[in-house]
Parts: sequence; C-alpha cells; structure tokens
Amino acid sequence: MAATVISGKEISGRVKDRVKKEAEACLAFSRAPALAVILVGDDPASAVYVKNKGKACEYCGIRSLEYRLPADTPEEEVLSLIDSLNADDTVDGILCQLPLPAHMDEKKITNAISPDKDVDGFHPVNVGRLYTGEDCFLPCTPAGILRLLDESGVSLAGKRAAVVGRSNIVGKPVAALLLSRNATVTVCHSGTPDVAAVTREADIVVVAVGKSKFLTADMVKPGAAVVDVGINRDKDGKLTGDADFEALLDKAGAITPVPGGVGPMTIAMLMENTVKACKRHLRLG
Ligand code: GUN
Repeated sequence: MAATVISGKEISGRVKDRVKKEAEACLAFSRAPALAVILVGDDPASAVYVKNKGKACEYCGIRSLEYRLPADTPEEEVLSLIDSLNADDTVDGILCQLPLPAHMDEKKITNAISPDKDVDGFHPVNVGRLYTGEDCFLPCTPAGILRLLDESGVSLAGKRAAVVGRSNIVGKPVAALLLSRNATVTVCHSGTPDVAAVTREADIVVVAVGKSKFLTADMVKPGAAVVDVGINRDKDGKLTGDADFEALLDKAGAITPVPGGVGPMTIAMLMENTVKACKRHLRLG
C-alpha cells in the first residue's frame, strides 16, 4: 500500500489559523504580538526565510519588525540592538537569522537574546528546560516535526525512533522531544558505522543530514513513518529532501514530502511561539 503523504502545508495552515485567532485575542486585550527578526548580510537562502516569516506574520496578525544589517556590521552593534529589543516591552519574540557572517560569534549572539523572548528556542536556558521537561520555547523545526506526527496519528510511546543527524537545531532537540514522549531513540551521525542497521529497526525515522536521497528504501522498515528535514537542490536545481521519496512511497507507512512537509511547519511553530511569548508578557492565559 502506498504511504500516506503527510501534508505540512495543510497542517501548518491549521496551526496558523489558530495562531491568528489567538493574536486577535491579544490585540483585543491589549496589543498585537510582535516579532523582531534580525538579518545580517545577504545570504540568499536567509533572505527567502525572512521573507516567508514576514508573510506568515502578516497572515497571523503578528507585528513584524525586520532589521536588515550589512554583512560588515560590527558584532557589538548587533548585541546592542538585541539589548534594546530585550528591554522593549512591546516586542515579544526576537530571532537572529543564522548563519551569521564569519566575524560574528553565533553563540554569543544567540545567548544575548532574553530566554523569555527566544522564540527560536536556541538559548541554553530553553535547551536545558527542554531536556529537563520544563515549559519552554521549543525549537521550531523539532516542534513542527512532532506536530506533524501527532496530527497524522503516528503514535510515539513505546516505539523505536531513529534520528539521523545530530545538529543543535534539529537532531539533538528532536531526539529529546521523542524521548520525552516515551519513544526509544537512537541518534545516528557521521561517525555511526552502520546507519541502515539502526534505521531498519525504527518505527519512526527522522532524517536531517543535508544529503539528497540519503535515506533509501532498503534502509526503512515496511510501514515506518519517515520525516524528511532535508532541503537540497539536485543538479537540475530541483528541491529535494534527504529521503528517496518516490522509492519510499511503496515502503513507508507515512512520509513527509519536500517541499511541503517540514518546511512550512517551522514557520508555523515560530508563529505559535511568538503568540505564546505575547500571552506570557500580557499575562493572558
Ligand atoms: N537558519 C536556519 N534555520 C533557522 C532557524 O530556525 N532559526 C534561525 N534563527 N536561523 C535559522
């Protein structure tokens, strides 16, 4: 039987519609939620992400403040902008688009954002809270992956999950989230001798390695759920994921497409985090 294709487009649309209603409630109570986005330099992929974030804010009724700074901006200037946004009571969420230019220390910049406004969930305080099971801002891509699985009726408790990739933005936090939901989680990475031996045992496979068609059909157990976090371009410039989507359609039980899978969820979860920050600031709910 062909795999169910999990539509991130549809699910993210529903999330954004809910966020829109909550943003309206914030506005009726006091003011609209506000998200500050800092973009340093002119990385073309980052420019696209920031544009899409702006569009989603507009749809949801979130006030978007964009700070576009030249690539040679001194680090101190970005840090002082973050300080002023931290102190601004009308700003709920702050994010600095990564990657930053080479002369900047990404950790220093990320850590300067107040944990209460860290809607990316990158600050060590939020990372620690995630690992200890406290309320926190969840990083958007991992949160979006869990939402896709939940909304598609994929159960996690007692299941085996394989996460391929161990980045701080995706692999590590998604493993922590799956663990918090009582899955038995194995994280594979570039030093894992036999990735296929691990993924073949898994009921859920999350692949985030940045290699086109890395996850082939022979690496997946029949009926498993596959979440593809990759965004690659093949030689013809076509967008492809990390999984061999066509081949897996006849093997997996459910699979996310690229594009239209995890991608739109990341932005929807950012909108959700921003409204959550706003409700906290307004002491609403
Ligand atoms: N660059 C790639 N993904 C992300 C993200 O989720 N947040 C930020 N700030 N930068 C990114």
